[in-house]
Amino acid sequence: MIVEQNVPLQAHNSFGIVAKARTLVRVAGEADVQQLLADPQLAASPKFVLGGGSNIVLTGDVKPVVLKVEVMGRRVLEDGPRATVIEAGAGENWHELVTWTLAQGFPGLENLALIPGCVGASPVQNIGAYGVELQDRFESLDAMDLATGRVFTLDAAQCAFGYRDSVFKHEAAQEGDFGLSGRAIILRVRLRLPKPWKPVLGYADLERKMNETGVRQPAAQQVYDWVCAIRSNKLPDPRVIGNAGSFFKNPTVSQDQCTDIIAREPGIVHYRMADGSVKLAAGWLIDACGWKGKSVGNAGVYDKQALVLVNRGGATGGEVVTLARAIQTSVYERFGIRLEPEPVVV
Ligand code: EPU
Repeated sequence: MIVEQNVPLQAHNSFGIVAKARTLVRVAGEADVQQLLADPQLAASPKFVLGGGSNIVLTGDVKPVVLKVEVMGRRVLEDGPRATVIEAGAGENWHELVTWTLAQGFPGLENLALIPGCVGASPVQNIGAYGVELQDRFESLDAMDLATGRVFTLDAAQCAFGYRDSVFKHEAAQEGDFGLSGRAIILRVRLRLPKPWKPVLGYADLERKMNETGVRQPAAQQVYDWVCAIRSNKLPDPRVIGNAGSFFKNPTVSQDQCTDIIAREPGIVHYRMADGSVKLAAGWLIDACGWKGKSVGNAGVYDKQALVLVNRGGATGGEVVTLARAIQTSVYERFGIRLEPEPVVV
């Protein structure tokens, strides 16, 4: 185990915010965590698990001990008639895993191409795009309890997946409660890619690609290429412009609330869900309030997609948070809807 002090984190958060980890420990496997827990001082310190840093806003130096997840490895566990099961280390880059599975001839993750971040973060917020969520391909994961060092395995039901949500985003108020936030580190994730492969094409942007190209039965590689093109066109590349993807979740309202809002705002983009509720496009709400292209200090609203906040160069976490709060206030004042942030403010 190597313990580093005062480690710059700018390259380890996709917003590109300047901050330091007071203490950082790289975790390549179980042994590193076990050694850390054997050190009385480190064991007693609060801990913060850092993956690809694509869903955090750093508002200052990180005081808890940062566990930088670097568990690597990808392998095919099972290639049966009904599915291929693959396993990847939590530190693997998510997009590279998607690309690798396709190159191996195992389709199923193509709609989730180009999502920034690492494999270990994918179940935490149940990443999703273009009609597929991680939970649709999830088999199980191995994690380690940060208090006891015990390794445990969770299936999909135990992860309690929801829209951009899982057991890893909830804090347990008391022992035995639901909630693993801050209490566990994900080590490995297993994914089940069903056979025969069927493309997921219902999403409007993909239908547009089918109509434009005339390709009605795309191969997985074609869907992957389309998703990459759609995302590159709409979302800023974090290596060029710092950002954390969608900054807010798309809010859900009841059918009655939606009827009210539509009466006032007929243009509102909304999707009916299977349970009768209605999801509203947060990007549309923010855009309608005139936020596209606006800034607070060096933090701004991306000019091609109002749901994405960006670092225009040298932004602080405080500026990002101030901008986010101002957006929440104006969306609430106009529509009566509270937007919930997606990234974790640290
Ligand atoms: N819209 C506007 N103005 C904007 C932005 C969007 O009018 O500035 C409208 C669009 O025209 C569209 C609707 O809002 O009709 C929805 O926009 P889009 O299709 O771009 O999807 P989204 O709801 O903004 C969600 C996910 C993305 C995911 C895409 C594709 C959330 C919070 N975001 O975005 O996920 O890639 O759908 O499935 O659910 C992420 O979580 O970081 C992320 C990028």
